[in-house]
Amino acid sequence: MKEKMGMVKVLDMQRSSRRLGWLMMLAGLPLATMAHGGSHQYGPYPASYAEECGSCHVPYPPQRMTAAGWETQMRTLKQHYGTDASVEAAANQAITAYLLANASPKDKSAPADPTARMTKTRWFVKEHGATPPKGLSFSNCTGCHTQAEKGDFDERTLKTPTGWRHGD
Ligand code: HEC
Ligand code: HEC
Repeated sequence: MKEKMGMVKVLDMQRSSRRLGWLMMLAGLPLATMAHGGSHQYGPYPASYAEECGSCHVPYPPQRMTAAGWETQMRTLKQHYGTDASVEAAANQAITAYLLANASPKDKSAPADPTARMTKTRWFVKEHGATPPKGLSFSNCTGCHTQAEKGDFDERTLKTPTGWRHGD
Protein backbone atom coordinates (compact mmCIF):
# COMPACT_ATOMS: atom_id res chain seq x y z
CA MET A 1 0.00 0.00 0.00
CA LYS A 2 2.62 2.47 1.15
CA GLU A 3 4.86 2.13 -1.88
CA LYS A 4 1.97 2.97 -4.15
CA MET A 5 1.77 6.57 -3.07
CA GLY A 6 4.51 8.55 -4.62
CA MET A 7 4.16 12.18 -3.74
CA VAL A 8 4.63 13.56 -0.29
CA LYS A 9 1.71 15.96 -0.68
CA VAL A 10 -0.68 13.22 -1.60
CA LEU A 11 0.58 11.22 1.32
CA ASP A 12 -0.04 14.08 3.73
CA MET A 13 -3.54 14.58 2.48
CA GLN A 14 -4.29 10.94 2.75
CA ARG A 15 -2.82 10.79 6.22
CA SER A 16 -5.07 13.44 7.63
CA SER A 17 -8.16 12.08 5.98
CA ARG A 18 -7.18 8.65 7.14
CA ARG A 19 -6.76 9.77 10.72
CA LEU A 20 -10.26 11.19 10.57
CA GLY A 21 -11.36 7.88 9.15
CA TRP A 22 -10.00 6.00 12.13
CA LEU A 23 -11.79 8.25 14.58
CA MET A 24 -15.05 7.82 12.74
CA MET A 25 -14.48 4.14 12.53
CA LEU A 26 -13.84 3.72 16.23
CA ALA A 27 -16.78 5.94 17.08
CA GLY A 28 -18.97 3.98 14.74
CA LEU A 29 -18.16 0.42 15.68
CA PRO A 30 -21.83 -0.53 16.22
CA LEU A 31 -22.30 0.16 12.49
CA ALA A 32 -21.14 -3.37 12.02
CA THR A 33 -24.21 -4.83 13.64
CA MET A 34 -26.17 -3.60 10.63
CA ALA A 35 -24.75 -6.39 8.56
CA HIS A 36 -26.76 -9.20 10.05
CA GLY A 37 -30.27 -10.46 10.34
CA GLY A 38 -30.19 -12.80 7.38
CA SER A 39 -29.26 -10.10 4.89
CA HIS A 40 -26.47 -10.53 2.40
CA GLN A 41 -25.17 -7.04 2.98
CA TYR A 42 -21.91 -6.85 4.86
CA GLY A 43 -21.16 -3.25 4.11
CA PRO A 44 -20.83 -0.41 4.16
CA TYR A 45 -17.31 -0.87 5.47
CA PRO A 46 -15.50 1.84 7.40
CA ALA A 47 -13.61 3.99 4.90
CA SER A 48 -10.28 3.13 6.44
CA TYR A 49 -10.79 -0.60 6.16
CA ALA A 50 -11.91 -0.23 2.57
CA GLU A 51 -8.87 1.92 1.84
CA GLU A 52 -6.19 -0.22 3.47
CA CYS A 53 -7.61 -3.62 2.67
CA GLY A 54 -9.48 -2.89 -0.53
CA SER A 55 -6.83 -1.58 -2.88
CA CYS A 56 -5.55 -4.89 -4.25
CA HIS A 57 -8.76 -6.88 -3.86
CA VAL A 58 -12.19 -6.11 -2.48
CA PRO A 59 -12.33 -5.66 1.27
CA TYR A 60 -13.42 -9.11 2.39
CA PRO A 61 -16.47 -9.28 4.69
CA PRO A 62 -15.25 -9.50 8.32
CA GLN A 63 -18.38 -11.45 9.26
CA ARG A 64 -17.28 -14.39 7.16
CA MET A 65 -14.13 -15.42 9.00
CA THR A 66 -13.33 -16.15 12.64
CA ALA A 67 -11.25 -13.93 14.91
CA ALA A 68 -8.43 -16.48 14.70
CA GLY A 69 -8.44 -16.16 10.91
CA TRP A 70 -8.28 -12.37 11.00
CA GLU A 71 -5.57 -12.43 13.62
CA THR A 72 -3.48 -14.59 11.33
CA GLN A 73 -4.08 -12.21 8.45
CA MET A 74 -3.16 -9.11 10.42
CA ARG A 75 -0.08 -10.70 11.95
CA THR A 76 1.40 -11.78 8.63
CA LEU A 77 0.74 -8.73 6.45
CA LYS A 78 4.41 -8.26 5.72
CA GLN A 79 4.35 -11.53 3.82
CA HIS A 80 0.88 -11.44 2.37
CA TYR A 81 0.51 -13.87 -0.51
CA GLY A 82 3.73 -12.79 -2.11
CA THR A 83 3.28 -9.10 -1.40
CA ASP A 84 3.88 -6.66 1.46
CA ALA A 85 0.52 -5.42 2.70
CA SER A 86 1.69 -4.08 6.04
CA VAL A 87 0.16 -0.94 7.49
CA GLU A 88 1.26 1.42 10.24
CA ALA A 89 0.94 0.18 13.80
CA ALA A 90 -2.02 2.40 14.65
CA ALA A 91 -3.85 1.37 11.52
CA ASN A 92 -3.09 -2.26 12.19
CA GLN A 93 -4.57 -1.97 15.66
CA ALA A 94 -7.69 -0.21 14.50
CA ILE A 95 -8.31 -2.62 11.63
CA THR A 96 -7.66 -5.62 13.84
CA ALA A 97 -10.12 -4.27 16.41
CA TYR A 98 -12.73 -3.76 13.70
CA LEU A 99 -12.24 -7.23 12.22
CA LEU A 100 -12.34 -8.97 15.58
CA ALA A 101 -15.43 -7.07 16.69
CA ASN A 102 -17.22 -8.32 13.59
CA ALA A 103 -15.70 -11.75 13.18
CA SER A 104 -17.79 -14.89 12.85
CA PRO A 105 -18.11 -17.16 15.89
CA LYS A 106 -18.91 -20.16 13.68
CA ASP A 107 -16.69 -23.18 13.14
CA LYS A 108 -17.45 -23.20 9.45
CA SER A 109 -15.77 -19.79 9.20
CA ALA A 110 -12.54 -20.96 10.80
CA PRO A 111 -9.37 -20.86 8.70
CA ALA A 112 -8.64 -24.22 7.10
CA ASP A 113 -5.21 -23.44 5.70
CA PRO A 114 -2.14 -21.84 7.33
CA THR A 115 -2.60 -18.47 5.59
CA ALA A 116 -6.24 -18.20 6.64
CA ARG A 117 -7.79 -17.87 3.23
CA MET A 118 -11.49 -17.10 3.37
CA THR A 119 -11.89 -19.10 0.17
CA LYS A 120 -10.73 -22.23 2.01
CA THR A 121 -13.16 -21.98 4.93
CA ARG A 122 -15.82 -24.64 5.13
CA TRP A 123 -18.71 -22.28 4.51
CA PHE A 124 -17.01 -20.90 1.41
CA VAL A 125 -16.35 -24.28 -0.14
CA LYS A 126 -19.86 -25.43 0.65
CA GLU A 127 -21.38 -22.35 -0.96
CA HIS A 128 -19.05 -22.18 -3.97
CA GLY A 129 -17.82 -25.69 -4.67
CA ALA A 130 -14.15 -26.47 -5.17
CA THR A 131 -13.62 -25.41 -8.78
CA PRO A 132 -13.82 -21.80 -9.92
CA PRO A 133 -14.73 -20.96 -13.52
CA LYS A 134 -11.84 -20.98 -16.01
CA GLY A 135 -9.69 -17.89 -15.72
CA LEU A 136 -11.35 -16.62 -12.55
CA SER A 137 -10.04 -16.94 -9.01
CA PHE A 138 -12.46 -17.36 -6.14
CA SER A 139 -10.46 -14.66 -4.36
CA ASN A 140 -11.77 -12.22 -6.94
CA CYS A 141 -15.24 -11.87 -5.44
CA THR A 142 -16.22 -9.16 -7.91
CA GLY A 143 -15.91 -11.67 -10.73
CA CYS A 144 -19.37 -12.89 -9.69
CA HIS A 145 -20.63 -10.63 -6.90
CA THR A 146 -20.72 -7.48 -8.94
CA GLN A 147 -21.18 -5.23 -5.89
CA ALA A 148 -18.72 -7.02 -3.60
CA GLU A 149 -16.71 -3.84 -3.25
CA LYS A 150 -19.57 -2.42 -1.17
CA GLY A 151 -20.05 -5.61 0.80
CA ASP A 152 -23.18 -6.54 -1.15
CA PHE A 153 -23.36 -10.32 -1.69
CA ASP A 154 -27.03 -10.46 -2.51
CA GLU A 155 -28.32 -12.88 -5.13
CA ARG A 156 -29.70 -9.98 -7.12
CA THR A 157 -26.23 -8.62 -7.78
CA LEU A 158 -24.70 -12.05 -8.46
CA LYS A 159 -23.66 -12.74 -12.03
CA THR A 160 -21.78 -15.98 -12.65
CA PRO A 161 -20.00 -16.86 -15.90
CA THR A 162 -22.23 -18.86 -18.23
CA GLY A 163 -21.70 -22.56 -18.08
CA TRP A 164 -20.23 -22.54 -14.56
CA ARG A 165 -22.19 -24.32 -11.88
CA HIS A 166 -21.18 -23.91 -8.29
CA GLY A 167 -21.06 -27.07 -6.28
CA ASP A 168 -19.62 -29.03 -9.18
C1 HEC B 1 -0.56 -4.87 -1.82
C2 HEC B 1 -1.78 -5.57 -2.15
C3 HEC B 1 -2.64 -6.06 -1.00
C4 HEC B 1 -3.13 -5.36 0.06
C5 HEC B 1 -2.92 -3.88 0.39
C6 HEC B 1 -3.93 -6.29 0.84
N1 HEC B 1 -3.94 -7.52 0.24
FE1 HEC B 1 -4.97 -9.14 0.88
N2 HEC B 1 -4.28 -10.20 -0.72
C7 HEC B 1 -3.41 -9.73 -1.69
C8 HEC B 1 -3.12 -10.79 -2.63
C9 HEC B 1 -2.21 -10.69 -3.84
C10 HEC B 1 -3.88 -11.91 -2.21
C11 HEC B 1 -3.95 -13.28 -2.88
C12 HEC B 1 -5.08 -13.25 -3.88
C13 HEC B 1 -5.16 -14.49 -4.75
O1 HEC B 1 -4.72 -15.56 -4.35
O2 HEC B 1 -5.72 -14.37 -5.85
C14 HEC B 1 -4.59 -11.50 -1.00
C15 HEC B 1 -5.44 -12.31 -0.29
C16 HEC B 1 -6.09 -11.98 0.88
C17 HEC B 1 -6.96 -12.85 1.64
C18 HEC B 1 -7.31 -14.28 1.26
C19 HEC B 1 -8.31 -14.32 0.12
C20 HEC B 1 -8.74 -15.74 -0.17
O3 HEC B 1 -8.34 -16.29 -1.21
O4 HEC B 1 -9.47 -16.30 0.66
C21 HEC B 1 -7.40 -12.16 2.73
C22 HEC B 1 -8.34 -12.66 3.80
C23 HEC B 1 -6.80 -10.85 2.66
N3 HEC B 1 -6.03 -10.76 1.51
C24 HEC B 1 -6.97 -9.86 3.60
C25 HEC B 1 -6.38 -8.60 3.53
C26 HEC B 1 -6.50 -7.61 4.57
C27 HEC B 1 -7.24 -7.79 5.87
C28 HEC B 1 -5.82 -6.50 4.13
C29 HEC B 1 -5.62 -5.18 4.83
C30 HEC B 1 -4.90 -5.20 6.08
C31 HEC B 1 -5.27 -6.83 2.82
N4 HEC B 1 -5.63 -8.10 2.50
C32 HEC B 1 -4.54 -5.95 2.03
C33 HEC B 1 -2.90 -8.45 -1.77
C34 HEC B 1 -3.16 -7.43 -0.89
C1 HEC C 1 -17.28 -17.76 -9.61
C2 HEC C 1 -18.29 -16.96 -9.00
C3 HEC C 1 -18.12 -16.52 -7.56
C4 HEC C 1 -17.01 -15.94 -6.97
C5 HEC C 1 -15.70 -15.57 -7.62
C6 HEC C 1 -17.38 -15.71 -5.59
N1 HEC C 1 -18.65 -16.12 -5.37
FE1 HEC C 1 -19.69 -16.00 -3.62
N2 HEC C 1 -21.24 -17.00 -4.42
C7 HEC C 1 -21.29 -17.46 -5.73
C8 HEC C 1 -22.48 -18.29 -5.88
C9 HEC C 1 -22.94 -18.98 -7.15
C10 HEC C 1 -23.13 -18.30 -4.62
C11 HEC C 1 -24.39 -19.05 -4.22
C12 HEC C 1 -25.60 -18.23 -4.41
C13 HEC C 1 -26.81 -19.06 -4.04
O1 HEC C 1 -26.73 -20.28 -4.00
O2 HEC C 1 -27.81 -18.44 -3.79
C14 HEC C 1 -22.33 -17.46 -3.74
C15 HEC C 1 -22.64 -17.19 -2.42
C16 HEC C 1 -21.92 -16.36 -1.60
C17 HEC C 1 -22.32 -15.94 -0.28
C18 HEC C 1 -23.61 -16.35 0.38
C19 HEC C 1 -24.56 -15.23 0.42
C20 HEC C 1 -24.76 -14.87 1.82
O3 HEC C 1 -24.56 -13.70 2.17
O4 HEC C 1 -25.14 -15.74 2.62
C21 HEC C 1 -21.34 -15.12 0.22
C22 HEC C 1 -21.30 -14.40 1.54
C23 HEC C 1 -20.31 -15.08 -0.79
N3 HEC C 1 -20.70 -15.83 -1.88
C24 HEC C 1 -19.14 -14.39 -0.63
C25 HEC C 1 -18.10 -14.44 -1.55
C26 HEC C 1 -16.80 -13.86 -1.30
C27 HEC C 1 -16.40 -13.15 -0.02
C28 HEC C 1 -16.06 -14.06 -2.43
C29 HEC C 1 -14.63 -13.70 -2.68
C30 HEC C 1 -13.67 -14.11 -1.66
C31 HEC C 1 -16.91 -14.78 -3.37
N4 HEC C 1 -18.13 -14.99 -2.79
C32 HEC C 1 -16.54 -15.16 -4.65
C33 HEC C 1 -20.39 -17.19 -6.72
C34 HEC C 1 -19.14 -16.64 -6.55
